[in-house]
Amino acid sequence: MRHLISAEDVSRELFYEIYNLSCRVKKALREGRKKFSVLRGKCVVNLFFEPSTRTRSSFEKAGKFLSADVINITASASSVKKGETLIDTLKNLDMMHPDVVVLRHPCEGAPYTVSKFIRASIVNAGDGRHQHPTQALLDAVTLVEHFGTLEGKRITIIGDIANSRVARSDAILFRKLGAEVFVFGPSTMMPRFPEAIGVKRLSSFEEVAEVSDAVILLRIQLERQDAKKVFPSLKEYAELFGMNKKRLSMLKPETVILHPGPFNRGVELNNDVVNSDRSLIFSQVETGLAVRMVILSLLCGRKEKLKEEIA
Ligand code: CP
Repeated sequence: MRHLISAEDVSRELFYEIYNLSCRVKKALREGRKKFSVLRGKCVVNLFFEPSTRTRSSFEKAGKFLSADVINITASASSVKKGETLIDTLKNLDMMHPDVVVLRHPCEGAPYTVSKFIRASIVNAGDGRHQHPTQALLDAVTLVEHFGTLEGKRITIIGDIANSRVARSDAILFRKLGAEVFVFGPSTMMPRFPEAIGVKRLSSFEEVAEVSDAVILLRIQLERQDAKKVFPSLKEYAELFGMNKKRLSMLKPETVILHPGPFNRGVELNNDVVNSDRSLIFSQVETGLAVRMVILSLLCGRKEKLKEEIA
């Protein structure tokens, strides 16, 4: 793997390789292992032009656990503020010989574009509404760990689908792994052509409850629309589409709930859902660290070293 730009870059075979390694890394971390020498001598740059808690800190932790040198740069503290372009920023950073650049950017296609100008591998850590492939990987690993397979599973994504890079990436990867993917939410937040990402639209909670083995909740991406014109309002959204105790009880007993975070309590879900034993939300975060350790190892050509160290 040269870069990880899109969920399209992940074949079924590659997914299962990442899955198997991630489960073993997660076990090692749970056993208290905090230092591996897999990426000694390698350098990872985290370059974030949008806010992040989970993705940024887990890539930082992943690099440090693997003994890489890790450089963190945020847009507000970079020379982009002085007018430097993204491509020039990347070309300059590339001269410092990083092995991987993890890039989050509000513009769709930015990671793909810069990948053509630099020697380092690029990981897309989220580009606008387009893609968030490591989120899709960690969501899929979480679900395969839970169910054993995604073959024949039915997964419904609820919320602001049109503005969500997570929905797009998840749909691509889940379908590749044999799942059927549905979407549900306000018409104003639905993609114009759901079939373009291979998902089917549901029209009621009753339908969601009937079909879903897993439900992924999304927040409303206020930063990607005119917040003053968002319809329905957050209050209305909570009433009409928010997951709560009553709606949770409508789902099949074995249906699980996921959320990529950050979640807004009282909008797309409430405390009953966060605290429910059907929630895999915090488990997703733990899995995310392991998945990102595997991704960095693969991109740096250190798969065999990782295997040795987690044997
Ligand atoms: N899920 C996700 O990308 O979270 P952050 O924005 O905190 O990285």
